[in-house]
Amino acid sequence: MSAAQIGLDAVSVRLGAQAALMGVSLRIAAGERVALVGANGSGKSTLLRTLHGLVPPTQGQVQQAPGVRQAMLFQRPHLLRLSALNNVALGLWLDRARGLSWAAAKVLALQALERVGLLSVAQQNGRQLSGGQQQRLALARAWARQPDVLLLDEPTASLDPHAKREVEALMADFASSEERALTLVWASHNLGQVKRLATRVVYLEGGRLMADLPVADFFNPAVLPACSPAAHAFVQGELS
Ligand SMILES: Nc1ncnc2c1ncn2[C@@H]1O[C@H](COP(=O)(O)OP(=O)(O)O)[C@@H](O)[C@H]1O
Ligand SMILES: [Mg+2]
Repeated sequence: MSAAQIGLDAVSVRLGAQAALMGVSLRIAAGERVALVGANGSGKSTLLRTLHGLVPPTQGQVQQAPGVRQAMLFQRPHLLRLSALNNVALGLWLDRARGLSWAAAKVLALQALERVGLLSVAQQNGRQLSGGQQQRLALARAWARQPDVLLLDEPTASLDPHAKREVEALMADFASSEERALTLVWASHNLGQVKRLATRVVYLEGGRLMADLPVADFFNPAVLPACSPAAHAFVQGELS
């Protein structure tokens, strides 16, 4: 396996009185598609937020290889009351490190909108787009920033089945892009989606990592019970 791109070393996170993560270690290499699964409150969001530097670990270390760029998406996109184009362009323009002119930011934003199939709504208010379009707009905004790693917290949880498939297709497309394949780490409540998209599955329970397996092993009833009875019980519960 190639060198780790991002990871956690024995990370614990306490949120108020709550132990949200306990001793979680994880190494993720470039090109992996890692799904985080587990019941509500198991620590999926906290793990993603910790990887993204939004939550400081109480113990342990967050690892990131030099030069790695990350972007994060949430269940509901945080869009501004601006055109779809300006929602993407503004983020690029505000990125001091890139020092882009407004015109250059708009050119890149248009490319990103084209990438996610939203060129035709570039001038529409981002907040007035459909739920699926809004999430694609959030993907365009992330893509435009040229990340190596995309973290997504239940990105399809609030979408209808059609929009869900569109967002899934984009995630798959980003992950297999020839010019720049992104590493994906995402929380999902949808095991079908996990089966379709993941190369690897991490199962969390009560803030602890209880299973970390290649996707084929995770969904193999001859393998999972022996590797992780807890994960097996979760999968049985979800499928029943
Ligand atoms: N801001 C917060 N303050 C206190 N506890 C929190 C906060 N956010 C989450 N938690 C708790 O941390 C644990 C993990 O939550 P979370 O990471 O959101 O799980 P998941 O995303 O799997 O539903 C839960 O027990 C949750 O109640
Ligand atoms: Mg969550």
